[in-house]
Amino acid sequence: MCGIVGYLGHRDCSDVLVDTLSNLEYRGYDSAGIAVFDAQNTIQTVKAQGKLQNLRNKLEKNGRPEGHIGIGHTRWATHGEPSDINSHPHSAPRVTIVHNGIIENYQELKEFLIGEGRTFLSETDTEVVAQLLDYYYDGNPLTTIDRVMGEVSGSFALGIMFMDFPDRIYAVRRESPLIVGVADGETFIASDVTAILQYTKNYYLLEHDEIATLTKDSISFVDKRLVPIEKELKVADWDKEAAQKGGYAHFMIKEINEQPNAIMTTVNPRIKDGLPNLEECGLTLEMIREFKSITVVACGTAMHAGLVGKYVIEGIARVPVTVDIASEFRYRNPIIGEGDLVIIISQSGETADSLAALRLAKQRGAKVLAIVNAKGSSIAREADMVIYTLAGPEIAVASTKAYITQISVMYLFAFELALAKDTVSVAECKRLTKALQQMPEAVQYVIDTVDETCKFVGSQLITAESLLYIGRGLDYALSMEGSLKLKEVSYIHSESYAAGELKHGTISLIDDDMPVIAVATQSDLMEKTISNVVEVKSRGAKVILVCTDACAAKIKDGIADYMITIPHTDELLMPITAVVPLQILAYYTSINRGANPDQPKNLAKSVTVE
Ligand code: M6R
Repeated sequence: MCGIVGYLGHRDCSDVLVDTLSNLEYRGYDSAGIAVFDAQNTIQTVKAQGKLQNLRNKLEKNGRPEGHIGIGHTRWATHGEPSDINSHPHSAPRVTIVHNGIIENYQELKEFLIGEGRTFLSETDTEVVAQLLDYYYDGNPLTTIDRVMGEVSGSFALGIMFMDFPDRIYAVRRESPLIVGVADGETFIASDVTAILQYTKNYYLLEHDEIATLTKDSISFVDKRLVPIEKELKVADWDKEAAQKGGYAHFMIKEINEQPNAIMTTVNPRIKDGLPNLEECGLTLEMIREFKSITVVACGTAMHAGLVGKYVIEGIARVPVTVDIASEFRYRNPIIGEGDLVIIISQSGETADSLAALRLAKQRGAKVLAIVNAKGSSIAREADMVIYTLAGPEIAVASTKAYITQISVMYLFAFELALAKDTVSVAECKRLTKALQQMPEAVQYVIDTVDETCKFVGSQLITAESLLYIGRGLDYALSMEGSLKLKEVSYIHSESYAAGELKHGTISLIDDDMPVIAVATQSDLMEKTISNVVEVKSRGAKVILVCTDACAAKIKDGIADYMITIPHTDELLMPITAVVPLQILAYYTSINRGANPDQPKNLAKSVTVE
């Protein structure tokens, strides 16, 4: 999604803006731009389609705007193709703005403004806001912004510069995230705190419809009635190094390597006397015993983490779990009400559909537990209870360490629920909890041992146009994530199928152009999955088998073309280690195909609009 930055201080503003924008590249974008107040207090704007490097080149070639106050933007096109003209910042005679979000009634506002004699350069909804601010401008930025907020509907975070006020920037948000940073004699705005970590860890979270006024030495806030408000200063607990590559070629592989630590940090503090303890988030054994139903709602990878959770919870706690895609849940009049638990899983905590699902569940009286990575995000703040995945900032668009910590939390929750429901003994729960605590070591071992094989297998997939992932039970839930990982970073079409479903249609696609990745980590289902492997292989498919060493020892040579083996651990926990080769395979396939795994085309890290 679009990224917003703004700076006021003593430094060269163009430099700071481009620097901070580069920290937001992970959000996904197709053009970038900056606007800076120059020495004459006029606003100089430079924009370029494509990567930030294009903007840097333009600034180098044509000269950078010199000044100390300005706003910047990376654009992920929604209204109007990626182009220099459609890039932000957008201006009207007295106003220049950057925008993240979607103005839903922009067409109607645009027609009104055209009727009033306004002309437009771009096809964007953002320019409509710039023109509207200019149209209603009454000499007072706050009342003008307030007036415009009353007219626009949709989601937005805006950074605004008024020509008449060259010493300040205004910021406002509705739905889309925005933070305000502060250092000594410098202030910032940004879509998220990782953008400014190299300058400061101190920031304020802007809430819906609040307006911030920033000068280099001061920050003030008003609420939607324009009443001044005090806000709590927050301190980010992420280091700037956490948001940098630290010697790795890509964030994706860095974050894969951070997984052992991420699991440890997420799991260990939630264990007391050898048993899971989630009281910190308000979940007591008594409470979880009483829930009538459990529904997990999320998008993409986070939804896949929910699927693993379903298998685990149903397997050991014997409580039925529904897993729903947030964009479906919110529009299908779900059967949810008092006494039900809805679990929202989200790395960013800002995904528009997941947030809408949360609000719907709350409206209907359900209790909402959020499993979230980004502290203070909208989902974390609006949920009744939160368990943070302590994975640190996830920068690569492809989620890896967030997924592994999300499933780790699902295990903790499942174990606690099983205890509450008396479906496992304390001794068995302690055994499982201990096995979960040993996962960081097991994951580290897998990272260290599968790398070469995954690199090689990845090189064999470069010409594939389509492939299938198959598995049964937990392996099926896991293969859905493997398939998403591969398609999003390598652009090879792939689908995941329950292995037993193949014969009901999909096997007709199998031939020697359709590689199959089979996952077999569950001993009770292994023979069945291997039969499916034999079936696809005899129809020409090249098979990559991801299985445990125990499984590998039992099967005949030649059943698969390539084998990626991982150590056998507790079978319930196998998705934690088995996801690693799937992630690494996706990473190398992407690189072998010349793609950039950190910034897959068309994708955004945080999907803050529908
Ligand atoms: O921030 P969220 O976890 O709510 O994001 C949900 C999905 O957009 C996300 O998991 C997406 O599928 C991943 N980037 C895929 O790797």
